Amino acid sequence: MAFHGAAARPHVVPVPRLSGGGLPWFGPCWSFRRDPVALLRAGRERLGDVFGFPLLGQQVVFACGPEAHATVFGAEETVLSPQEAYRFMTPVFGTGVAYDAPPQEMSAQIGHLLPALSSRRLDGYALIAEQEVRALLARWAPQGEVDLLSELNRMTVAIATRCLIGDEFQRGMGPHLPGLYRDLESGIRLAGILSPALPLPSFRRRDRARAAIARAIGDVITARRATSAGASDGCEGKPAAGVVDVGGGDMLATLLAARTPDGSALSDDLLTGILIGMIFAGQHTSAVLATWTGALLLQHPEYLGALLAEQRAVTDGTLRLGTEPLRRMELLERCVREAERLHPPLILLMRKALHEVELVGHTVPAGALVMLSPAVAHRMPEVFRDPDRFDPARYEAPREEHRQPHSLIGFGGGRHRCVGLAFAYLQVKAVWSVLLREVAFEPGHADHRPDYSTFVPAPVSCRVRYRKRSVPVPEQP
Ligand code: HEM
Repeated sequence: MAFHGAAARPHVVPVPRLSGGGLPWFGPCWSFRRDPVALLRAGRERLGDVFGFPLLGQQVVFACGPEAHATVFGAEETVLSPQEAYRFMTPVFGTGVAYDAPPQEMSAQIGHLLPALSSRRLDGYALIAEQEVRALLARWAPQGEVDLLSELNRMTVAIATRCLIGDEFQRGMGPHLPGLYRDLESGIRLAGILSPALPLPSFRRRDRARAAIARAIGDVITARRATSAGASDGCEGKPAAGVVDVGGGDMLATLLAARTPDGSALSDDLLTGILIGMIFAGQHTSAVLATWTGALLLQHPEYLGALLAEQRAVTDGTLRLGTEPLRRMELLERCVREAERLHPPLILLMRKALHEVELVGHTVPAGALVMLSPAVAHRMPEVFRDPDRFDPARYEAPREEHRQPHSLIGFGGGRHRCVGLAFAYLQVKAVWSVLLREVAFEPGHADHRPDYSTFVPAPVSCRVRYRKRSVPVPEQP
């Protein structure tokens, strides 16, 4: 069965439809909620790289493979629109921010924060990452058991908050932030496709969390504006008094210094929305990528010796991390990339078809929700040899399996590719650089299946036993 409106061009065929998936309006809603990746993988095995199904009254067209990815990532927003697909994010980002703004306005908003992601700034962020990981590690007992996800989440909350909004926000809100960010994220659910304003408890928690974070950011903005108003040298591009200089200030300082084409400063609401958007886009996703990296290394201890040797060779007793030493941690980078491939934090990317469009020989009708899945695409045996295997060497020359454009899409591609990729890799590598050097881990009680009940699936549980390397290994009796 095909969607209506299929074109009559000879080489273009209608999208085949996944059958046997629940009631007509709901579609395979329950299987999709339980394990979207299994559903999409099974559909691809039966029907090929492009197929469709209804979902909560919405026609979904799923597409997979580098060629389909290239078409979707390269399409104009007037044809395949991320804005229309991600409307359910508006209560998180705010009205008129990111996907709620027209495409050109969204690009301008992203353009304002690019200076804060330059390599000079990243150098300072690496140092912050090292400081924050060491500060949290100092609170761990010499040995014991921890939940890796919650610890890495604490670390990325501290790193992202300091790099984006600054020390004063981190000091004032620190202990409340992991819970608030969790509530914000738990408000992204399938029901948002229907309406993100439904009276659900998770949506109410999302709105309360956003309001609390926005108030606290608003206070910091007011204080910073007051400080810069009193200064004669226009210090908005510099960190506020008492703030560690990370080489140009934090992202808030960059946004305070930004000007629109007519010379005006950005409004407080827009600044707040952009910052919440950046935290949302980058904090928990980085924690989850770091957790999968750890989970995979625990499952593959054969890499630990070489990773430790790399750490010793690169850090050479230095304590100051920066972009240059991190760049030289090539094996660590390949392990993180394998985590991105096997367990991409964002498993579904979406666009709304505003017109009928051709997608690798199929007609996608206007109004359909086009879906890509990094989690499905990264396990294509046609692209990645023995795809379910953890094999960091696949990125080494001459194999370089990720070189085919749009094969590795954990950070998207084309015009909407993630602008925070370098910052995310920096965080994950910095965290594991310090942890590898300071702590020896052993698997504890763990269930490494992805937890699809959340928007950014982490392992169901990832408890680890650890011993700080400063603690002598007990002698065997
Ligand atoms: C492991 C961490 C991260 C992952 C897996 C990730 C993944 C992604 C993906 C897949 C997209 C493309 C979405 C699409 O095309 O539909 C994206 C876009 C984006 N990401 Fe990230 N991201 C991460 C970290 C970050 C960080 C740290 C920041 C900022 C500090 C960030 C900011 C953005 C922004 C602004 C966009 C929208 C770009 C645009 O539409 O032009 N992300 N991210």
